[in-house]
Amino acid sequence: MWWMMGETGGHYCNKKTDDICGDVCGQESNKVLSMSRIRCILRGWDVKTLIFLFAFVPTCIFFIYLHGQKISYFLRPLWESPPKPFHVLPHYYHENVSMENLCKLHGWKIREYPRRVFDAVLFSNEKEILELRWKELYPYVTQFVILESNSTFTGLPKPLFFSSYRDDFKFVEPRLTYGTIGGRFKKGENPFIEEAYQRVALDVLLKKAGIEDDDLLIMSDVDEIPSRHTINLLRWCDDIPPVLHLQLKNYIYSFEFHVDDSSWRASVHRYQSGKTRYAHYRQTDDLLADAGWHCSFCFRRISEFIFKMKAYSHYDRVRFSHYLNPQRVQKVICKGADLFDMLPEEYTFKDIIGKMGPVPRSFSAVHLPSYLLENADKYKFLLPGNCKRESG
Ligand SMILES: *[C@@H]1O[C@H](CO)[C@@H](O)[C@H](O)[C@H]1NC(C)=O
Ligand SMILES: *[C@@H]1O[C@H](CO)[C@@H](O)[C@H](O)[C@H]1NC(C)=O
Repeated sequence: MWWMMGETGGHYCNKKTDDICGDVCGQESNKVLSMSRIRCILRGWDVKTLIFLFAFVPTCIFFIYLHGQKISYFLRPLWESPPKPFHVLPHYYHENVSMENLCKLHGWKIREYPRRVFDAVLFSNEKEILELRWKELYPYVTQFVILESNSTFTGLPKPLFFSSYRDDFKFVEPRLTYGTIGGRFKKGENPFIEEAYQRVALDVLLKKAGIEDDDLLIMSDVDEIPSRHTINLLRWCDDIPPVLHLQLKNYIYSFEFHVDDSSWRASVHRYQSGKTRYAHYRQTDDLLADAGWHCSFCFRRISEFIFKMKAYSHYDRVRFSHYLNPQRVQKVICKGADLFDMLPEEYTFKDIIGKMGPVPRSFSAVHLPSYLLENADKYKFLLPGNCKRESG
């Protein structure tokens, strides 16, 4: 605690200076006395200033180095205004209501036959979530389009994971379009550039898969899973918007930690050749409520968490190498805390403070993908009460 010593030392020195001043100044005439008083005071100030510079300032810099990101996140309401709110479309569903009535409830008409559906994703290493996703969407998807690179967004070489376990995905084989792409391996480049490059390649792959005008195209990350009935509704109803974002329930690590309901990046498009471009940012104001699940960092093995932390576009969040320590990662998962020790990304102080600290546990496993519950043994780690992960 050297800075504390600095401070106490400071008081001591000040007193001493004053005493010396008193001794020296005491014998002089009044006028001179007040002059030297000022000089004495100034001299006292110098010591304080020095202490300030040598103890307090480095302490501050060290503190900002440790917590700078937190400070700037906490002050976000001052430097960033919230995005324009979405126009949220209410979503109606019950398994016993006919499709005709469901379309009508949304202000749409039923079609004579459903649209074809293309589901396109960029794959990194989310094997378990990919299987859940494809099982959930299987009944209504015409082609599963998946593109994998031998480079992470951060420019690290990676194996083509999907090709190594393609045999475990036999059930989609007749509807599968799998493409691979070589990374560019540019050192020190913004990861979003590699990501954009891969998304362009996905547009090409979609053409190859045979997508045509007015087919439905799902654009989302692997871990943003639209619910089956949502896709069924959108393929059967007539006048749905040309582009529609999906509001998904946000989970982290597993379905035990329900963060909020405000994931919106996933979108569904009525494909228009020459116009539709694969993207993962905001493309319209329309957002369909309660349309599925977004399970971030929902991995079986600790090593997969660590791979993802290094691989994804926000690698700058790994500010200290101990963040990647497996014991720490396991502890953070069981607490529902943040892997990068960050504050919530919110736009008002009320929301930031309300969401600080770990995510509370949920005990609900109601309305989750059916394949998850049908195979609860295999997917135990995604269900409440099973935060311990396999090591290695
Ligand atoms: C829902 O539909 C099924 C079969 O169509 C029927 O057996 C069941 O009784 C219905 N449930 C309700 C609550 O109406
Ligand atoms: C990545 O893939 C490209 C194209 O298939 C290949 O030329 C390149 O050698 C690969 N790089 C690595 C590091 O695997």
